[in-house]
Amino acid sequence: MRKPFVAGNWKMNTDSDSAVKLAEAIAVGSLETAGQSVDVMVCPPFVYLQSVGRAIDGSSVTLGSQNVYTESEGAFTGEISTSMLKDVGCDYVLCGHSERRHVIGETDELINKKLSAALAGGLLPILCVGELIEQRQDNKTEQVITAQIKKGLAGISAEDMEKVTLAYEPVWAIGTGLTATPGQAQQVHALIRKLLSELYNEQLAEKTRIQYGGSAKPDNAAELMAQPDVDGLLVGGASLKADDFVAIIKAAG
Ligand code: 13P
Repeated sequence: MRKPFVAGNWKMNTDSDSAVKLAEAIAVGSLETAGQSVDVMVCPPFVYLQSVGRAIDGSSVTLGSQNVYTESEGAFTGEISTSMLKDVGCDYVLCGHSERRHVIGETDELINKKLSAALAGGLLPILCVGELIEQRQDNKTEQVITAQIKKGLAGISAEDMEKVTLAYEPVWAIGTGLTATPGQAQQVHALIRKLLSELYNEQLAEKTRIQYGGSAKPDNAAELMAQPDVDGLLVGGASLKADDFVAIIKAAG
């Protein structure tokens, strides 16, 4: 039985005041609605990690980073290491979010290095994968997801894989209001689980949590979560409103 896992990716939003208020409201709201039955995590911008960490301290909400660099320290202007993230209380880190792939230009190879660095540094990575609309229209979804999973997880041992969460985020559904239908999400989640059983083993594939992301909202969360291979949600826009995010947590529980 996989425990539902709902994460909020705040992206480049909030400020010092609203980040703390949002975190506090989520901490209270998630405990009231779902108790400990759902794992809840938030990824604020780097500069608010510490204040958000303090705001959720003592609650069941955990802290994640939206990004990390591959090296542990040194002359890498503008980058943040795993040890810095651990130092400010992060447990999780997103690797390969579609905006990092398609806006910033991260490659599968870099994403794989970041994921390896995260594991080596004691963080729990969430590897994000997803196809572009053109790729779906060209019937290339399976090919794209397979390549992203294989390249993203290259060299990751079965032991380390136990610490990895996956997130399927079709790029055409992110921030567009267009959600994948529950059937479309299930199809790709089942593909990802099959790939995991081929790359590792069936037991590990059964244990691994796969989140869906892309316009997840309070009114579609339950039907997405009802799919057998959808184990959680990675929420963008709706995670910026405490009431919506808490409603999604409740629907996932
Ligand atoms: P939206 O929920 O805003 O579509 O964003 C999804 C996402 O990218 C989460 O990482």
